[in-house]
Amino acid sequence: MELDKKAIAADLVADPDLIHFDNAGASLMPRPVLDTQLAHLLLEAELGGYQAEAERMSAIEAVYDSIGSLINCHRDEVAVVENATVGWMMAFYAQPFEPGDRILTAEAEYASNYLAYLQLVKQRGVLVETIPSTADGEVDVEALRGMIDARVRLIAITHVPTNGGLVNPVEEIGAVAREHGIFYLVDACQSAGQIDLDVDKIQCDALSATGRKYLRGPRGSGFLYVRRSALAGLHPPVVDLFSATWTGPDSYELRADARRFENWENNYAAKLGLGAAVDYALALGMPAIEAEVTRLAAKLRERLAEIDSVTVHDIGRRRCGIVTFAVDGIDAGTVSDRLRQHRIHTSVSGPSSTLIDATRRGLPSLVRSSVHYFNRDDEIDRFVETLGSIVGNG
Ligand SMILES: Cc1ncc(COP(=O)(O)O)c(C=O)c1O
Repeated sequence: MELDKKAIAADLVADPDLIHFDNAGASLMPRPVLDTQLAHLLLEAELGGYQAEAERMSAIEAVYDSIGSLINCHRDEVAVVENATVGWMMAFYAQPFEPGDRILTAEAEYASNYLAYLQLVKQRGVLVETIPSTADGEVDVEALRGMIDARVRLIAITHVPTNGGLVNPVEEIGAVAREHGIFYLVDACQSAGQIDLDVDKIQCDALSATGRKYLRGPRGSGFLYVRRSALAGLHPPVVDLFSATWTGPDSYELRADARRFENWENNYAAKLGLGAAVDYALALGMPAIEAEVTRLAAKLRERLAEIDSVTVHDIGRRRCGIVTFAVDGIDAGTVSDRLRQHRIHTSVSGPSSTLIDATRRGLPSLVRSSVHYFNRDDEIDRFVETLGSIVGNG
């Protein structure tokens, strides 16, 4: 199915003159996502929050079905949470780690995840090890095979790292994890909404994602998937009266479904907005979205190569919508600020957000220009022209 870019443009609330290439930071919500939230906020102001929730209960419940359709799972395997970090942490800190347990992860792992590993290295005596990368830059699946032993408790992989075009081979990694019965946690924060995800093909036990990035949902929204067969073995790191029932003075019972990783109070407007964003992506079709994002990013990389002082730093056999580059003699923050003066949005990816990968590759701070399917070819032309004029090589 081809994307109808005119209809997509008509749903943009933003000024069409603005070039938003910060979709891996926070994308632009389409009109239906905004309207869904505004309508619920209005209802809360008119009726009160509890009554508004009761009134919209079936729509709130439908959010779980929508996420299930997006990643090919059952609604009971989904927890809707505040962001990707909360989702990921819930699955990570629920692991019954013992001293000496090994965690295997990617070199381009996200800072927050790695900080959590380091905390448990300190507190529980686990070991964290990075799986070497191939010459193309992705996780080396053969090297992973060679690292497996009985002490590997967890394989945790960032699908699309924060700092470049890399797409890690999560399905091949999943086959290794499944073969050895090792818990497999995938950080899909930056892939959800730009890459068609199927948890059965990935064979992960848990997967986390955020709303505001490629899903074009609201800030402060995200979700966690936990495979049904893995649920019973995972006690949430925190419990409240939503995730568990107080059954006696000394006892409680956890919810049976993935909502054991949620808690009671929620921003229902954001939750409904997340559902609307997922529905919007599903209506367009994830394969069509993925194809258009890939095409636009490849074109942007190609055009950036025309500017002598610009070096694109993306790696990986397969590359996504995130395009990162450095400019000789001008730091990334200055380039991004100057682009903003021309109404072009990018962000900056510093070495500390993927420290191991950035150190290994000697990366400076990079300008991160992340495209989405609603971006246009003429925006790429204007981006490259403007950048050329900023760096004095146009
Ligand atoms: C790979 C990756 N994982 C996790 C996160 C955290 O997501 P959130 O801010 O929604 O918690 C980010 C945010 O940039 C990210 O790039």
